[in-house]
Amino acid sequence: MEITDQTWADLHQAAVSAMQRAYCPYSHYPVGAAALVDDGRIVSGCNVENAGYGVTLCAECGVISELINTGGGHLVAFACVNAHQEATAPCGRCRQILFEHGGPDLMLAMPGGLMRMDEVLPRGFGPWNVREVTGEDPENGGSNER
Ligand code: THU
Repeated sequence: MEITDQTWADLHQAAVSAMQRAYCPYSHYPVGAAALVDDGRIVSGCNVENAGYGVTLCAECGVISELINTGGGHLVAFACVNAHQEATAPCGRCRQILFEHGGPDLMLAMPGGLMRMDEVLPRGFGPWNVREVTGEDPENGGSNER
């Protein structure tokens, strides 16, 4: 799947649209995220906060929920924006969540420019680490192959 300037423009637009739908009455910090799937789909999500602050869903969780609920696949490019429509870095937990579905080659639009997932989350723990020990494939249609 080729990643072009148009890809990044489309992801930015999808992330901005999602950000505008965020539910963030506690932080007042809307986030929108979008990703390109290896079959050309774009999936997106926004943060969804909760009165129990700690159970807030980050925008990236919405991206992965849409990914799986629309057929799965492998993420190849990812963008995340704040209320200023500027790139924002995924939190640590979300880096791990993205790593599962994009692996080390996932490209991310970070505040300083484009970065690979293995720069954003070096030496990450992935499905193959589990497989190496258990010998079992995750039951997800093989979308996690390295
Ligand atoms: N947030 C995200 O949606 N994604 C991130 O990667 C960082 C933080 C949200 C969670 C919370 O609703 C708000 O931003 C402030 O932390």
